[in-house]
Amino acid sequence: MSRGRYIALEGAEGCGKSTHATRLAATLGAVLTRETGGTAVGRQIRAILHDTSIDNLSNRAEALLAAADRAQHIDEVVEPALAAGRHVVSDRSVYSTLAYQGYGRELSIEELRRFNDWALIGHWPDLVLLIDAAPEVLERRMRGRQLDRFEREGEQFHERVLDGFRHMAMAEPDRWAVIDGSQSLEAVATDIRAAVHDRLGL
Ligand code: TMP
Repeated sequence: MSRGRYIALEGAEGCGKSTHATRLAATLGAVLTRETGGTAVGRQIRAILHDTSIDNLSNRAEALLAAADRAQHIDEVVEPALAAGRHVVSDRSVYSTLAYQGYGRELSIEELRRFNDWALIGHWPDLVLLIDAAPEVLERRMRGRQLDRFEREGEQFHERVLDGFRHMAMAEPDRWAVIDGSQSLEAVATDIRAAVHDRLGL
């Protein structure tokens, strides 16, 4: 039996990746999951990460909590599914750590890559779909939502995160596909489907 493929959707808050992860997983018959919070342990870690009453979480502690969520997620959800031949579609992945804790919080990307490789036991996503939308589009979609610890960060933080995602996509074009997230929901879904077919033959 051949191993499943690991597909991650990435992007800023409000880009629509959760909706598209759900649709893609249904189309492929894949396991749908998420980081952070894809396991029971992960949901407790996520609660800490998103808690707006915590105003002194250190950047390194934040990065390690995300990596702990990831280690549990890989062991409990991702690797067993891939080994059983199921495809996995994940709403966010290790690349969110590189974007948010690396580009956003300005921790060393190299160090983040190193300890996250350990957390992942080397299982990085096969394909990353970056749903890229202009900040104005994102801001419009976020209006009225209850904001968590990350969403409350300033404009510059979010610009660094978005630039980080774009930079990583350009640096590794075989692993990443950039999808124009400012299109209609149907057009985004069509582009995602085409990218998965072209890159992975699925
Ligand atoms: P979301 O799952 O609702 O998109 O929100 C998750 C938030 O957590 C989002 O602001 C990005 C952030 N995050 C990190 O900072 N590092 C990570 O490794 C992950 C997976 C998410």
